[in-house]
Amino acid sequence: MAGTNASGHLHVDEESKAPYDAETLAALRADAEIVIARYPQSRSALLPLLHLVQSVDGYVSGRGIRFCAEMLDLTTADVSGVATFYTQFKRHENGRYTVGVCTNTLCAVMGGDAIWDAVSEHLGIGHDETTADGMITLERVECNAACDYAPVVMANWEFMDNQTPASTIQLVEDLRSGKDVAPTRGAAKVCSFKEVSRVLAGFHDGRADEGVGAGPATLLGLKIAKERGWAAPAGAAAADVPDGAETEATPGSAGAAPAPGDEHSSADRPGGLKGKEAAQ
Ligand code: FES
Repeated sequence: MAGTNASGHLHVDEESKAPYDAETLAALRADAEIVIARYPQSRSALLPLLHLVQSVDGYVSGRGIRFCAEMLDLTTADVSGVATFYTQFKRHENGRYTVGVCTNTLCAVMGGDAIWDAVSEHLGIGHDETTADGMITLERVECNAACDYAPVVMANWEFMDNQTPASTIQLVEDLRSGKDVAPTRGAAKVCSFKEVSRVLAGFHDGRADEGVGAGPATLLGLKIAKERGWAAPAGAAAADVPDGAETEATPGSAGAAPAPGDEHSSADRPGGLKGKEAAQ
């Protein structure tokens, strides 16, 4: 049985090391080969393969470590070294939902510390611990680049903006009761940890274009600049490019760039939802 307390080590008890059954192993191998084929060097596939393991086991298990090592011709020490470096790789069984309270500077002063205290006391667990029903793993998280909506709480890396202690307690209770919970921005519904892990392994769930990518607070500066006719100094970007260097188009940059103040929903990008609808 995987532990639920905070741990600095991979949890590699006997159950964690028990082999996959033949059907699970065959499916894992088939998926892993798809992922590995995307990279010129197979070892570059380690991060997505660790997410793939989490999509099956709910954390990086001992057998998952061995599976990655075998698929990538690495040592288990190589794989463990990577798995223990990144906080997104869980060292013991994760809850169905990771709820991360941002307690970095801006969110903290805007109420993140109070949210943390309230939800931690409400659930009776601390950082990197999981509720007894297996539904919620609570984490303190660092800045999520969503400071314009501080204080921010993440539910399986979906944004819950402008939170309060009461709204976050409501969030965890809704998740625990099995309700569909919609984040403030992005996907229409918070998925489970295993479902999200599969997406992070590189298997898209077709939901990347749901919702808006940038809300009003993010666009406010652009809106003001547009109203006042402000623009970046001409040539500033070009001055940073060394003589003779060619700039490379980024994905989605073809065609007219969005004007300042335009919404940057992923649905607006070439190939996005609106583009697909238009093509039908
Ligand atoms: S400090 Fe919390 S999102 Fe930036």
